[in-house]
Amino acid sequence: RERSLILVKHDGVQRGLVGEVIRRFENRGFKLIGLKYVQATRAQLESHYEDHKGKDFFEPLLAYGSSGPAVAMVWEGHGIITAGRAILGATDPIKAQPGTIRGDYATAAGRNLVHGSDSEKAAKREVDLWFKAEELLTWHRAGAQHLHDKYSNE
Ligand code: GTP
Ligand code: MG
Repeated sequence: RERSLILVKHDGVQRGLVGEVIRRFENRGFKLIGLKYVQATRAQLESHYEDHKGKDFFEPLLAYGSSGPAVAMVWEGHGIITAGRAILGATDPIKAQPGTIRGDYATAAGRNLVHGSDSEKAAKREVDLWFKAEELLTWHRAGAQHLHDKYSNE
């Protein structure tokens, strides 16, 4: 089952976009299997963003990210990693297409509202970092055969 960790980062919470982010993933037909409101610690963000250690934006990323709550979600479905990244839009919102979350609501990479896993390996690592196994609930969607011809979107 393909999964992606999606975060509404603290700027997204401040901007009142939690519902908007959820709506876009729900409308697309993906399945929400984990959801929580979390105050991330610097240590957790350091681990989450470990690939960016040493870059000039790393420290501001940890400082802002730990300054207030975020919403962490796990979405499941065939193609969720690629489609999820497309729903978010480009990292630099100035380059993000209108119709994407960042392209519709953001103008700065340092305030780009959302995070999405970029590979299966990253998704696994990130889901384990933000959620305990028992916090993920699988469920069967009624009428799933109308959503996807092969995968019933999982
Ligand atoms: P995530 O989904 O959050 O991982 O974003 P991404 O995959 O589109 O970008 P990437 O993993 O390269 O960077 C992680 C986060 O670091 C981004 O979401 C930005 O918030 C921040 N970031 C990346 N590049 C820049 C940059 O050039 N300037 C600033 N200020 N922040 C950046
Ligand atoms: Mg990334």
